[in-house]
This record gives sequence, C-alpha cells and structure tokens, in this order.
Amino acid sequence: MIQPSPSASPYDILRKMTVIRGDITRQRVDAIVNAASTSLLGGGGVDGAIHRAAGTRLLEACRQLGGCPTGEAKITLGYKLPASWVIHTVGPIWRGGDQQEEQLLARCYRNSLLLAEQHHLRSVAFPAISTGVYEFPLERATHIAMTEVSQFLTSHPAIEQVVFVCFGEESYRCYIETLAEIQIAS
Ligand code: APR
Repeated sequence: MIQPSPSASPYDILRKMTVIRGDITRQRVDAIVNAASTSLLGGGGVDGAIHRAAGTRLLEACRQLGGCPTGEAKITLGYKLPASWVIHTVGPIWRGGDQQEEQLLARCYRNSLLLAEQHHLRSVAFPAISTGVYEFPLERATHIAMTEVSQFLTSHPAIEQVVFVCFGEESYRCYIETLAEIQIAS
C-alpha cells in the first residue's frame, strides 16, 4: 500500500525534473518509457530503437503481455539496455483533439509513474510520447507531460528523478521552454 505523503514545495518538484537532448536507449535510469503500439510487438521511432538496443528477449517478454490499451502501461526487464526496466505505454493517435487524446496522453504519464512506484523504482526517463508517428501537437503534448509529471511528483516522493529525453532540437527547445514556464508560474 503506497502511503500518500505531505505535498512537497514547487522547488522540490522542479529539482526532480530534467530535460536533456539525447537517445533514451542510452540513459542509465531505473526505467525508460517506451512509446509503444497497442500490440507491444515493436515498431519504428523510439519503439524500434528500444527493441534494437534491448535485444530479442524484449520482444519475447512483450509477447507474454498480451498487448496494452491506449493510456495504459506495462513493464518488462530492460535486458541489454543500461536501464533495468522498460515501461511500455501507448499514447493516443492525434485525431483532431475531440477524442479524449489529451486525457489519454496524461494517463500514459500517470500510469507509467504509478508502475514505476509500484516496482520501487526511483528514476524514470520519458520520450516525447505521441509526438512522432502519432502526430500529437508538440507544444500541447509537452505541456501535458510536464504538468502531469509535476502533479504526480507532488504527492509521490518515492520517485526521485524524471528525465525528459528529447531526440530532436525542436522537441528539446519546446521542453526547455515549457519547464521554464512552469518554474516561473511556481
Ligand atoms: N530516444 C528518444 N526519443 C526518441 C528516440 C530515441 N532513440 N527515437 C525517436 N524518439 C522521439 C521522436 O523524435 C518523438 O519525439 O520519440 C518521440 C515519439 O515518437 P515515436 O517514436 O514516433 O512515437 P509515437 O508518436 O508515440 O508513435 C508511436 O510509432 O514506432 C511506432 O510502434 C510505435 O505504433 C507506435 C507509434
């Protein structure tokens, strides 16, 4: 049973959130989050990169999971990755914004962190979920990611570090600007 905890200060929360530009498959954190498909059987983008780096045992493990609904998350070992675990979550495909896309994307972040906490993990790295093949508008997705993560960290101190790993310059700039907005608002 995970006990709720007294709220932390905005400074405490923001200190736990880091934005970097890089390759999520190289991150030395407890868990990296994969932007997967509902089949969990691999794909392109970050999903393909994670499966290539983790090796074939990751796909074998994913086959046992029976897929994953959009907005939900499932966990496997990281195998050949530097990260010990992979949390597979399925972001929403952007269809114009009137099919619960924003709520589903928020659930991806919340459910991934809940799973990390349930496994007593302390550091988690996220890609920019749904902003590639799934075409979710980057600015809106970034704001949802940072808002959801900061709200989660406020009442779940067991998670000590969340790293947002941006693969491209545009994504990196958007995350840095959004983090700055949150800091100013705090
Ligand atoms: N490290 C970090 N981020 C990465 C990496 C990487 N190695 N490779 C790609 N990205 C970034 C992309 O630049 C994008 O910003 O991850 C973000 C998410 O893009 P996608 O990987 O296309 O994921 P998504 O938009 O959620 O679409 C998921 O694509 O690959 C398929 O099987 C996957 O069906 C699923 C869909």
